Parts: sequence; structure tokens; C-alpha cells
Amino acid sequence: MGKKYLLLMVIAGLATLFVVAAINAGTAVPDVVKMENKAYEKHTKGIVEFTHKKHATDYKATCGDCHHNDKGEALKELKEGDNVQGCIECHKKPGEKAKGKDAPKLSKKEELEYHAEAVHENCKGCHKEANKKAGNKNAPETCTKCHPGKDK
Ligand code: HEC
Ligand code: HEC
Ligand code: HEC
Ligand code: HEC
Repeated sequence: MGKKYLLLMVIAGLATLFVVAAINAGTAVPDVVKMENKAYEKHTKGIVEFTHKKHATDYKATCGDCHHNDKGEALKELKEGDNVQGCIECHKKPGEKAKGKDAPKLSKKEELEYHAEAVHENCKGCHKEANKKAGNKNAPETCTKCHPGKDK
């Protein structure tokens, strides 16, 4: 009786450990983030594999270069393990703005409501500057270098 009880306790203890580990993992970011936001009904371009960890380490980008608060102010104090809101929570409209000559002229603020516009501005903006500084093209600026696939 005593032995069986002890065994049960050990099992229960292990189970608890696993659950706690799973909860903690919830706030961690994968090293490579599959940029396939669920707010999109359908992605028209290949899914971008974003090397989150490499950006924050090898490429020396700081958390605040990409993450900001509800006023758009850089989250400079952010550190690993902190919770972060997804871009879509504020840049709410999935997709890019309408393009072409009949498309309505948008203010910068209206444009940034579109998720893909905000994300593109963040990624490509830094890439352009980084390439200029480094004198190379290591940071992708063209569609297919980020979106795998054959179009464009
Ligand atoms: C080069 C840009 C960039 C840098 C630098 C960066 N992040 Fe991120 N991070 C992102 C993007 C993009 C996502 C995906 C968000 C989305 O899909 O809405 C993300 C996702 C996350 C998530 C997961 C959010 C979720 O969906 O639950 C966390 C947590 C996070 N980042 C924390 C950090 C911390 C801490 C740092 C600094 C050590 C950091 N990030 C640096 C761009 C960046
Ligand atoms: C909590 C809300 C919130 C979240 C989450 C958020 N943003 Fe923003 N973002 C804003 C606000 C507010 C502004 C300022 C808009 C303005 O000036 O009209 C802004 C501005 C921007 C700008 C323009 C910056 C500039 O200097 O003009 C870019 C690019 C951008 N966000 C990209 C992102 C990306 C990429 C993510 C996810 C990693 C993200 N945002 C997450 C609220 C947010
Ligand atoms: C603050 C600057 C900065 C931001 C913001 C940034 N990047 Fe980069 N990224 C870089 C630099 C610098 C390189 C090139 C590193 C090198 O020299 O190889 C790079 C390289 C890349 C590469 C090619 C190498 C690899 O690791 O896959 C991809 C793809 C990429 N970035 C995607 C993104 C995406 C997607 C975003 C937006 C969610 C983004 N980046 C935002 C700085 C940035
Ligand atoms: C630096 C990397 C990068 C470059 C370069 C880039 N994109 Fe993106 N794009 C992204 C990321 C990241 C997303 C967000 C996807 C998500 O979170 O679901 C995105 C989203 C999109 C979306 C909305 C999602 C979809 O699949 O329908 C479209 C459309 C798009 N991009 C088109 C383009 C086109 C066209 C070009 C070239 C003119 C381009 N992108 C260049 C990284 C990039």
C-alpha cells in the first residue's frame, strides 16, 4: 500500500513538472518563427521563415527595433521570457493596402493599419539601411528572398 502510494505521488509530481514546463514554453519564441498569421484567410505568398533568434543575436537587432507599445514607442526594456503582443493585435487588417491607380490615397496612419504594410516597413526598412551600411545585399529586400516560391 505504502509503496503504491509513493509511486502515484512520483507520477503526479512528474506530470506537474511537465505541465509547468509547457506553460513556461508558451511565452518563449521559437528560434525561427513561421510567419503565417492566423488572421489571414489565405496567404497569397510563400510563408516567410523569420530567424527571430539570429536577428536578436547574430544580426544585433534589439527587441525595441521591432516590438513597441500601443503608442508605437520602442519596448527597450523587453527581455527574453517577457510576453509580447503580436503585430496583428494593433496592425489589425490582414494583407496589404489596395494597390493600383484607382486605389484610395491613404495617410501613413491608415496604411499602418494593414498588417503586411507594417511588417514590410519594419523588415525592409532595416534591411535597406543595413545593406547600405554593410555595402552588400545580405538582408533581403526582394519578395522571393523572403517569400519562398516562384512568383516575382
Ligand atoms: C528583427 C525584429 C525582431 C527582434 C529584434 C525581436 N523580435 Fe520578437 N518577434 C518579432 C516578430 C516579427 C514576431 C512575430 C510576431 C507576430 O507574428 O505577430 C516576434 C515574436 C516574439 C514573441 C512571441 C509573441 C507571440 O506571438 O506570442 C516574443 C515573446 C518575442 N518576439 C520577444 C522578443 C524579445 C524578448 C526580443 C529581444 C531579445 C525580440 N523579440 C526581438 C520581431 C522581432
Ligand atoms: C500594442 C499595439 C502595437 C503592437 C503590438 C505593434 N504595433 Fe506597430 N505601431 C503601433 C502604433 C500605435 C504605431 C504608431 C502609428 C502611428 O504613428 O500612426 C506603430 C507603428 C509601427 C510602424 C511605423 C514606425 C514608424 O517609425 O513610423 C511599424 C513599421 C510597425 N508599427 C510595425 C510593427 C510590427 C512589425 C509589430 C510586431 C512585431 C508591431 N508593429 C506591433 C502599435 C503597435
Ligand atoms: C533592425 C534590423 C532588422 C530588422 C527589423 C529585420 N531584419 Fe532581417 N536582417 C537584418 C540583417 C542585418 C540581416 C543580414 C545579416 C547578414 O549579414 O547576413 C538580415 C537578414 C534577414 C534574412 C536572411 C538571413 C536569414 O537569417 O534568414 C531574412 C530572411 C530576414 N532578415 C527576414 C526578416 C523579416 C521577415 C523581418 C521582419 C519581420 C526582418 N528580417 C526584420 C536586420 C533586420
Ligand atoms: C524582408 C522580408 C519580406 C520581403 C522582402 C517581402 N515580404 Fe511580404 N511579408 C513578409 C512577412 C514577414 C509577412 C507577414 C506574414 C504573416 O505574418 O502572416 C508578409 C506578408 C505579405 C503579404 C500578406 C500575406 C500573404 O501571403 O498574402 C503579401 C501579399 C506580401 N507579403 C507580399 C509581398 C510582396 C509582393 C513583396 C515584394 C514586393 C514582399 N511581400 C516582400 C516579409 C517580406
